[in-house]
Amino acid sequence: MEFRLNEDQQMLREMVRQFAEKEAQPTVAERDEHAIWPDRLVAKMGELGLLGVAVSEEYAGAGLDYVSYAIVIEELSRVDSSLGVIASVNNSLCCYGIEKFGSEEQKRELLPALAAGRALGAFSLSEPGAGSDAAAQKTTAVRDGDSYVINGVKNWVTNGDHADTIILMTMTDPAKSYKGITAFLVDTKAPGCSIVKIENKLGIRSAHSSQMAYDNYRIPAWRRLGEEGQGFKIALTILNAGRIGIAAQALGIAQGAYEAALNYTKVREQFGKPIHEFQAVGFTLADMATRIKAARLLTYEAAWRKDNGLDYIKDAAMAKLYASETAMWVATKAIQLHGSNGYSKEYPVERFFRDAKITEIYEGTSEIQRLVISREITK
Ligand code: CAA
Repeated sequence: MEFRLNEDQQMLREMVRQFAEKEAQPTVAERDEHAIWPDRLVAKMGELGLLGVAVSEEYAGAGLDYVSYAIVIEELSRVDSSLGVIASVNNSLCCYGIEKFGSEEQKRELLPALAAGRALGAFSLSEPGAGSDAAAQKTTAVRDGDSYVINGVKNWVTNGDHADTIILMTMTDPAKSYKGITAFLVDTKAPGCSIVKIENKLGIRSAHSSQMAYDNYRIPAWRRLGEEGQGFKIALTILNAGRIGIAAQALGIAQGAYEAALNYTKVREQFGKPIHEFQAVGFTLADMATRIKAARLLTYEAAWRKDNGLDYIKDAAMAKLYASETAMWVATKAIQLHGSNGYSKEYPVERFFRDAKITEIYEGTSEIQRLVISREITK
């Protein structure tokens, strides 16, 4: 068994770490405070190949494996988890979906720009009435000659307000329930697609999540992803891979919060000594480090299984479940170790705490991950 990253993966980690620390760190608090979309940093991520990590080179991607992809998202999120999710949505919810399910025409037309950062991608499944129950789609697509006409409202579209291409789930045949769901590759510049509002969020504030409306939005039939009725399977297959990205994001948040706490407990003195010398503090740091290591092993193993053509639905769900609950736990403890300073925006741990929460919710709540895991282990 090999537990070491190869040389390329180690170099990639170093490169992303340098980028995150030098370019994202100085502005992360301000962008979080004012919910500023990181235009310049998204462009730079594109130049560095971080938006198409696992996309094949023939479609202008970096052509790397999913372990490398997990490393990228982890390192971005260790400093700025908004960047982590922007990259994750483009990589695994949009590019991966197009490369796996798209026609050659769709791949050639859309992937090179998305993978190189000249365009941005999003994924749109959630609706006001369809969250965990993703099959309850109300957005309709009706065939009309060589196109479809789409009407409905979608919410929680991460990257939505900056996206060029969105993988959109619609209902084409309500009588067939989830077998009536069809996916499309939306061109957001075409008329009829608009932003209703950008959510004012607790965390990952620099990454925008929008509510979007489709009002007689006409889309040419060549932009249908897969066949009619395949949309639910496509959405869940994309989410299986996406969950590795969110596990990696949670891992990065946990690592960032842990490092902040570790450094703080070495310099903060009370009762005449650095507080890490108190057993209660040292044991907390030990628990943090142990949980983070377990989350990393689960996350990398799920990515490795995907890279090696093995089943990974259960493993991605386990990684996402454990890493997200670890991020929340570690960030909570990191604040506690900072005392009242941890409650202040002068220190980064309150941001990690706010950012961690969403990882237990999006791309399937912890309850949905437990449902997926329990179904997989009992079938
Ligand atoms: N992968 C692939 N296919 C799957 C699957 C999976 N993980 N889980 C189920 N399926 C298939 C089943 O095999 C079945 O297909 P067949 O009939 O062909 O066999 C079909 O889907 C229906 O399955 P179920 O009867 O199990 O469906 P269900 O409705 O009982 O449960 C669910 C499905 C697991 C609850 C699913 O709805 C789910 O994962 N919900 C969570 C939705 C979610 O993650 N939303 C995230 C929104 S995106 C987001 O968050 C973006 C962002 O901002 C970053």
